[in-house]
Amino acid sequence: MPGLDHPSAAAVVPISLGERSYDILIGEGLLGQRGTWQGLPAASAVVIVSNPTVLALHGASLQPALSATYPRVLVVELPDGEVHKQWSSLDLIFDRLLAEACDRRTLIVALGGGVVGDMAGFAAACYMRGVPFVQVPTTLLAQVDSSVGGKTAINHPRGKNMIGAFYQPLRVVCDLAVLDTLPARELSAGLAEVIKYGPIADTAFLDWIESHIDALRARDRAALAHAVRRSCEIKAAVVGADEREAGLRAILNFGHTFGHAIEAGLGYGQWLHGEAVGCGMVMASDLSMRLGLVPAAFVERMRALCARAGLPVRAPHLGGPDRWIELMRVDKKAEGGELRFVVIESLGHAGVRTVPDALLRETLAACCEPGP
Ligand code: NAD
Ligand code: GLY
Repeated sequence: MPGLDHPSAAAVVPISLGERSYDILIGEGLLGQRGTWQGLPAASAVVIVSNPTVLALHGASLQPALSATYPRVLVVELPDGEVHKQWSSLDLIFDRLLAEACDRRTLIVALGGGVVGDMAGFAAACYMRGVPFVQVPTTLLAQVDSSVGGKTAINHPRGKNMIGAFYQPLRVVCDLAVLDTLPARELSAGLAEVIKYGPIADTAFLDWIESHIDALRARDRAALAHAVRRSCEIKAAVVGADEREAGLRAILNFGHTFGHAIEAGLGYGQWLHGEAVGCGMVMASDLSMRLGLVPAAFVERMRALCARAGLPVRAPHLGGPDRWIELMRVDKKAEGGELRFVVIESLGHAGVRTVPDALLRETLAACCEPGP
């Protein structure tokens, strides 16, 4: 229900984290509405962190609404792309904040996809030991996943998202209208994270995605609104129960151990994060089947759905199984050097397990391209 506090939003998903609780606003045209920005703390400056692509498309909607609320609106442009999710980009933010004498009440607004959101959030966590920030996700992936839950990070050449912090935003603003400008390949990448929520938490949602996948790819607004809302509801429930990933939250990484190996192994930016996750979910489903948890028909169901979503379903060779395993060891779920995988325990329920090396190698053999 749209809350009294957020009259501009068509839907509001609360995320309950005690004093760090906040709302996810979902609606159309939210960026430019003054109501979207009401109720945030006063600040002498607001700093929009974005990239040239997103600023050119959507900066003009956001800036006047913020100027109406805050005395000074600054803009920091980061270079666009996963390959720039690293320290030098963070320094661009810190250099500007210090050059402009920004104080510890400065509000940071992350306007962009997951790359901008992860970096702006990490910068907000670090600057003066923490300044308030708002996520304005502009990709489907960021609206359904990365902007929610407070994980912020940069990549290291040896591993994805290895340097970061848990740091919650004050608000998340999901404006469905900005998805109109998203390239089709990026929309498909976002669908991977939407699909993820079905097998791990909600079989009815998985059924719904299967029957609406064409509408989602055609950007039907009602379908997108439901996908964003249901994804955020599931993520909010998981994060509300386990903010710092002591256990349950790890299920949100279904497909990610394989996916992160693809991203790091091919070089960041070759496959999109969502593409790697889509293929990784097929691999994790195959592994679940080899563990005797799900039938082979489930693997085919996931493969077919990911393919219909426009995602790659055949994994790259990456130099063979030993190299795959080496890449997957650089994973935050690994304990004492032992690999752990999110598997489907039964449809709608996921868990984290170590797996026999032989079964893992069977999955790699079944899912990867043959060597050159
Ligand atoms: P991205 O941020 O690189 O955005 C994809 C591309 O779309 C970029 O070129 C961007 O400039 C462009 N773009 C963004 N919004 C647009 C719009 N409205 N119209 C046109 N172009 C637009 O990629 P992403 O898929 O959004 O995010 C991937 C990142 O998110 C990865 O680094 C991943 O690790 C991270 N992630 C983080 C979490 C988390 O919990 N923090 C969860 C999932 C993914
Ligand atoms: N995207 C995984 C998480 O937020 O935990």
